Amino acid sequence: MKKITVIGTGYVGLVSGTCFSEIGHQVICCDIDQNKIEQLKQMKMPIYEPGLEDLVRKNVHDGRLTFTSDVSVAIQHSEIIFIAVGTPMSETGEADLTYVKAAAKMIGENLNDYKIVVTKSTVPVGTSRIVRQIISKHAFTSVSFDVASNPEFLREGSAISDCMNMDRAVIGASSDMAAKIIEEIHEPFHTKVLITDLESAEMIKYAANAFLATKISFINAIANVCELVGGDIVKVAEGMGLDSRIGNKFLRAGIGYGGSCFPKDTLALHHLARVAGYDFSIIQSVIDTNDKQKTIVIDKLLKALGDVEGNAISVLGLTFKPNTDDLRYAPSLSIIPILLNKGAKVKVFDPIALDGVKRYFGASVTYHDDVYDALHDSDACLVLTEWEEIVGLDLDKAKSIMKEPIIIDGRNCFDLEIMNSRGFHYQSIGRPA
Ligand code: UGA
Repeated sequence: MKKITVIGTGYVGLVSGTCFSEIGHQVICCDIDQNKIEQLKQMKMPIYEPGLEDLVRKNVHDGRLTFTSDVSVAIQHSEIIFIAVGTPMSETGEADLTYVKAAAKMIGENLNDYKIVVTKSTVPVGTSRIVRQIISKHAFTSVSFDVASNPEFLREGSAISDCMNMDRAVIGASSDMAAKIIEEIHEPFHTKVLITDLESAEMIKYAANAFLATKISFINAIANVCELVGGDIVKVAEGMGLDSRIGNKFLRAGIGYGGSCFPKDTLALHHLARVAGYDFSIIQSVIDTNDKQKTIVIDKLLKALGDVEGNAISVLGLTFKPNTDDLRYAPSLSIIPILLNKGAKVKVFDPIALDGVKRYFGASVTYHDDVYDALHDSDACLVLTEWEEIVGLDLDKAKSIMKEPIIIDGRNCFDLEIMNSRGFHYQSIGRPA
């Protein structure tokens, strides 16, 4: 079993560090954010992720997982260093590598023995080589090291199970020996391993996310056409997905993708291609289609109500997907301001993210941690996230407390026949009204 240090305790760093400890490695997770580390030491998770706290507790208890804000010591301690810091979107759309470069500098300054420096953050093609240059520049000794790229494919909300049961591990490394060692540390995951050059590993991550985003925008575009010419997108997606070349995943039509990954990575890939001299117009269409898709529920609402001025509108589900508290690029953040501008009284429900949403909307909306409170006396309701509490709604109860039984469902949560038979005015995405 190996000594592993993970720099960065965000989603990727914390989850993958914890999973590496779960399969038996000795893992130190470090972060320059002292407050975060103190909280982690007290078992307070910085993110909401099902199963994470229990797994952290278990591995800390068993002595395989520790947290520190002393990044230098953490680097010196291990042979394998994962860089898992954030790569936020810059104004031009490219990935901001400030934190990756800062981590590389610290690794260089603390290079006391042979190390493999593995980039896990999502980074543009060529970053591992930049990491290598920075480490060499800041190293005081001539100790040798390797760089590698080992992208992460976990999804928020199912991160632990995605990591523990990964489809594959992609490893690009600057030497065969480094690739072999990274392959070995993955052995207990019993997964397929693909060894590539550095650039291919980096590109696989962007290409995979951009392809998934393309599937979503494509099915949303088909849904929009179905609304014009007929057809039910749920059946259409099912029929397409039965073709094993297409597959049935990521064909759920709705109000588009959000989150910290697809919006950022599609833009970053587009930027990367443009700078290299290629106009990646498919990706631009994916981005544009997604931007328009977010507000489609507003058009449907206006059609149903005529005008929302003075009307109470319940917005159910605020996060970009269920089982996370993440609001980054969530469609709700685009939709609520439009409702407010049009003079609607907005009542929001989310099982987890109300505190986070308060930062955006303050006193301009009312907050409800009970879905029925949010629906009480409302003129219409918008469904933006398929949380269990929303999908499992007691429809009779909902109808009895709403002023008007109008549901505009941006996630196709409910059965068409049931909604019609219960007397709802029900509109969803790409399905007959
Ligand atoms: C995504 C990828 O799925 C992960 O493989 C990747 O590791 C991660 O980004 C990352 O780069 O870190 P994530 O953003 O957590 O994971 O969530 P997804 O489950 O992929 O959902 C993204 C968005 O697409 C959500 O808003 C979801 O509602 C939407 N979506 C997903 C659809 O609208 N339709 C679908 O069929 C699937």
